[in-house]
Formats: sequence, C-alpha cells, structure tokens
Amino acid sequence: MSGGVYGGDEVGAIIFDVGHQSLRVGYGGEDTPKAEIPTTLGVWEDTVEALDSGQNVKKHYNIDVTAIQVRKKDMEMVSLMKDGMIEDWEMFERLTEYTYKQRLHALPEHHPILMTECPWNTRLKREKLLELMFEKFNVPAMYICKNAVLAAYANGRSTAMVVDSGATHTSAVPVHDGYVITQGIVKSPLGGDFITMQCRQFFEEKEIELTPACLVASKDVVRERDPPRWTKRAGAQPTSSWMSYMVRELLQDFQMNCLQVSDSPYDEDVANTLPMKHYEFPTGYNDDFGSVRLMIPEALFDPSNVKGVGASILGVGPLVTTSVGMCDMDIRPSLYGSVVVTGGNSCLQGFSERLNRDLASKTPPSMRLKIISANSSSERRYGAWIGGSILSSLGSFQQMWLSRQEYEESGKLILERCA
Ligand SMILES: Nc1ncnc2c1ncn2[C@@H]1O[C@H](COP(=O)(O)OP(=O)(O)OP(=O)(O)O)[C@@H](O)[C@H]1O
Ligand SMILES: [Mg+2]
Repeated sequence: MSGGVYGGDEVGAIIFDVGHQSLRVGYGGEDTPKAEIPTTLGVWEDTVEALDSGQNVKKHYNIDVTAIQVRKKDMEMVSLMKDGMIEDWEMFERLTEYTYKQRLHALPEHHPILMTECPWNTRLKREKLLELMFEKFNVPAMYICKNAVLAAYANGRSTAMVVDSGATHTSAVPVHDGYVITQGIVKSPLGGDFITMQCRQFFEEKEIELTPACLVASKDVVRERDPPRWTKRAGAQPTSSWMSYMVRELLQDFQMNCLQVSDSPYDEDVANTLPMKHYEFPTGYNDDFGSVRLMIPEALFDPSNVKGVGASILGVGPLVTTSVGMCDMDIRPSLYGSVVVTGGNSCLQGFSERLNRDLASKTPPSMRLKIISANSSSERRYGAWIGGSILSSLGSFQQMWLSRQEYEESGKLILERCA
C-alpha cells in the first residue's frame, strides 16, 4: 500500500448526494442527511464601481429554502444541474461553500468527502469535481461513487436492478457486484417534474389559480369550490422563473398528498370509485379530487396516452425489462430477484405495487421477481445518501479513499480507482 493512503477515519466523512431537486448532505454513519438544500439558486446581478472607475457586474446567489423565497425584482431561479450532472460549477462551488459554513458548520479540510454521481456522468465532469474539491476546498480525501450502486447498498444488495425515479428522470440501472453495467442503463424523462407539469395543466384547464403560499398574506375560510378570498403579501413583482419554481413547490405538495398510482392499468370506472381526497390551496380554495389522483401518475407506467409524449418513451415496467434484456443471460435472474426502488418520485403511493404487477406479467415464470423498496419514504428519497453513509463507515472501505497526497502525486489518474 502506498504511503499516500488516507488513514484518518477518526473524523466523520461527509456524504454529498446531488440531484436536480436538492443536495442531500450529512455525516457518514448517520441514518439520514443533516440537510437537504435546493439545487436551484436565486441568481441576480448588480453593478459595482471598479477601481479603474468603470463598472463591474457582480453576480449574487440566494441559496437555500428561506433565501430563495425572498422576492426580488430581477432574481431568476436557475438550476445548477443538467441531465443528472453538475452543469454550472460556479453555482455548485457557492452551494458547497454555503453547505460547509451554514449547514454543517464544518471545515472541508477536516473531513474526507464521498460524492455521488449519476451512472452516465462524464469523465470530464468527474475530473472537474476532483480538482474542485482538492484544490479549492482542500479536502483531505475523496471518493466518487455511482448513486445507483449506493442505493443498492442501502438496500443490502451489491447486485440489483436499481429503479430510480427522481425529479427529472426515471432510470433502470443494472448493478453487478458493486459495478454499474453501463450498456444496460435505460432512462426516460418522466419523473416528478413531469407529474408536476401534468398537475399544472390539469389546474389550468379547470381555471384554478395557483398562488404559492409565500405570496398569500391572509385568507378566509371559504366553502368547497367557492372563489377564494385572500390578500396578497406586499413586495416586488417576481420574475416568471421564480413564480414557476414556487408553483412547482405548491404542486409537489399536492402530488405528495393526493396522487396515487393505480394498482392495475388505469380504468375510468374503477378510478371513479376511489374515495375523494380533500385538498386546500394556500389561497384557501379547496375541493375534493377523485379520478385525477390516479389518472396523472398513470403516465409514468403507461405514457402512450399522454399528449406530447413520444412513442419511444418507456413506462417504468418496460424500462426494467429492456434494461435486463441488455444484460448477460447469466445475471438476469439475480437482477429480477433484486429490483430496488428508490428516488423521491417513487414515494408516490402504490408505485412499487404497480411495478411489481407490471413486471410479474412480463418476467419468465422461471425467474423469481422481488421488488425491494424501503418502508419509509425518507429511506426511499435518501437511498443513495444512505448507501454512501454505510459505505463510508465500513472498515474495508477506508483503503479506498483517494488521498490528497495521491492526488498531488498522480493527479486525475487516481480517478480510475473509483468505479
Ligand atoms: N412523498 C412523496 N410523494 C410523492 N412524490 C414525492 C415525495 N417526495 C418527493 N417526491 C417527488 O420526488 C421528486 C424529487 O426526487 P429526488 O429527490 O429523488 O430527486 P433528485 O435526485 O434531486 O433529482 P434527479 O434524480 O432528477 O436528479 C420531486 O418531483 C418530488 O415532488
Ligand atoms: Mg436523483
């Protein structure tokens, strides 16, 4: 073993799991992340006097739940992610600085850091991340691990078919002995954000106005379906990207509370027998919702009837069968035997049950099908983070860290050690 191996496990490792919705961050060995911070930041500019008496434009970033709710005339909401990967490094750096200082109250140079990445992350982006963490944040050691592998570990598996339904996409990722089988990755752009968009369309068609809670100063109690009576909180006129972001939050609450995946292919008559669910909007408008609760999430499992969705986009069941079909015959039984369900959007009530049903009708009778989904929704939302927390505290993992000394000696080449 080279002298550069990181040997310090006396201080806790920090786990970063970054996605389109949020960054989940906290200490290895703990059960849940310490903080969940949106990866969409409020970006605004002002001009400052420069030394040469000219003017410089300075960019400002509003970070985290409270600061992004501040209404500013020119503040745009911008995501630092794209296609599952970090896109804007300046924003990522600011978010990381904020996280250490304000949420973890820790110094980056004191803790090794384990970062997750999506299975299709590019080499250039991994190198950039390594460079940023060692050179800018001076971390003592680092490791990068695929989120699907970690989600499998969190569910006690090193071989699994990992179905991850997040904000921007749903993917089926085969994992074998702790390694992603890259040629078997299949994904679709239908995730939680797509469901949010469908909800928005539904309310627009019904002419129900969507006003985020932070714009409502007061409201009266009104009867079901009566026009709401509310007053608006004073403040600047927000940008349209800010409004969309806040409306998205409102709709996500509706999604969590009201939507449910039908246990068999959607049938209008059956859906009409579903008990109605009462929902009140921040303005006080309230109504009972019935069949729409099943109709909207149906698109995840059967996108064929959704307007504007191409025929090439697969539902969750076909994502899995296609992915398994691209893997070696020998390992197919073990993949079907461990279908791990993870990601925030998989917390929709009935998601795993429907996947089980759709797969059961497609898997050969000789293969045992087992869907593994954590009981609590937080375990499902934090699957990759929890896997990272477990991995970083295993004794056998300590020799895997890429140490600062190794980075200084060999540079980016050391990344080959991260699968
Ligand atoms: N309890 C819940 N019920 C239904 N949907 C939920 C629940 N909790 C979270 N979601 C949805 O999950 C999505 C976020 O999932 P997740 O946190 O896994 O995304 P992410 O990993 O940040 O994004 P991506 O995987 O696209 O990079 C959002 O669309 C949110 O509305
Ligand atoms: Mg994700």
